[in-house]
Amino acid sequence: MPGAIVTGWGIAVPDKVVTNEDLSLTLDTSDAWITERTGIKERHIGGTTSGLAIEAGEHALKRAGLTGSDIDLLVLATTTPDAIVPGTSATVQAGLGVAGGAFDVNAACSGFVYALVVAHGMALVGAQKILVVGSETLSRITDWDDRSVAILVGDGAGAVVLEATEGPGELLGWHLGADGELRDLLKCDHGGHLYMNGKEIFRHAVRAVIDSSLIALERAGLTPDDVDLFVPHQANARIITAAAQRLGIAEDRYVVTIDRYGNTSSASIPLALVDALETDRIKPGSIVLLSGFGGGMTWASAVLRWGG
Ligand code: ACO
Repeated sequence: MPGAIVTGWGIAVPDKVVTNEDLSLTLDTSDAWITERTGIKERHIGGTTSGLAIEAGEHALKRAGLTGSDIDLLVLATTTPDAIVPGTSATVQAGLGVAGGAFDVNAACSGFVYALVVAHGMALVGAQKILVVGSETLSRITDWDDRSVAILVGDGAGAVVLEATEGPGELLGWHLGADGELRDLLKCDHGGHLYMNGKEIFRHAVRAVIDSSLIALERAGLTPDDVDLFVPHQANARIITAAAQRLGIAEDRYVVTIDRYGNTSSASIPLALVDALETDRIKPGSIVLLSGFGGGMTWASAVLRWGG
């Protein structure tokens, strides 16, 4: 069956770097605590969700040898839109000169994988060139006096260009899940700040990543042993390690970028994916497992054979 493959990718992060030492000047915390409990060393802070998305999108388009006018669909994953109306995707559409439709997807930290799966589906019904972006400015909904959240978040964006192909597409299997009964574990009301029950999210997150990954792999006819690279949502290095260990995926087969970026919600998986591509950890034919979880709660996994 024809499908779609990634032909371009790019990222954007604000220039300003905030280290753990910087945070410990204003919060009752320390580099040692943050490093040990989360794996985070520093994060980039600043910009706007649309601005970062446009910059990441420009890089991805350039890499694919395309311009915005070639793109017939833009799907933007974000949980920190510039405004309630219009959708941030509209601002990004204008900024990049995208020729086709544009819409936002909000599935919190699972958003990029949701958006990617939706984009593959759109390719099956005729979309030819699709830009998929995950962009966030969590810093704007963070109470910087609340150490339980402030130490975790970062801003950034990652984008991929997906092009329809006559041959087999990249997506071998996927799984999307949600449980709104858990919606109070992580939330931000209109005009408010991010609140999370870290312990409970931690517990559910490990389970969700494992179960969702296994379902997506099974649908692809694969097992964790077949995975060349696991690209998980970067919320806490301990969550990544716990999930990878229980899936039987050794350290050299998963990506950790949280030390540099913190938790960037729907930008975290594309940031990690692009990092892996830029360091040659993904090659044509590589089996890549993406898996995320987040507010909702939601979770999402996708199994790709790179290059189709
Ligand atoms: N600095 C120093 N001490 C701290 C800090 C801090 N920033 N935060 C908490 N502590 C203290 C606590 O008060 C507690 O002290 P006590 O033992 O005297 O009571 C102790 O450290 C342990 O606190 P815990 O909350 O038990 O620490 P834990 O190991 O659970 O780590 C964390 C907390 C990092 C938040 C972890 O639970 C986590 O990462 N959870 C998942 C978060 C997540 O994935 N969020 C989802 C996505 S976020 C998003 O979508 C935007």
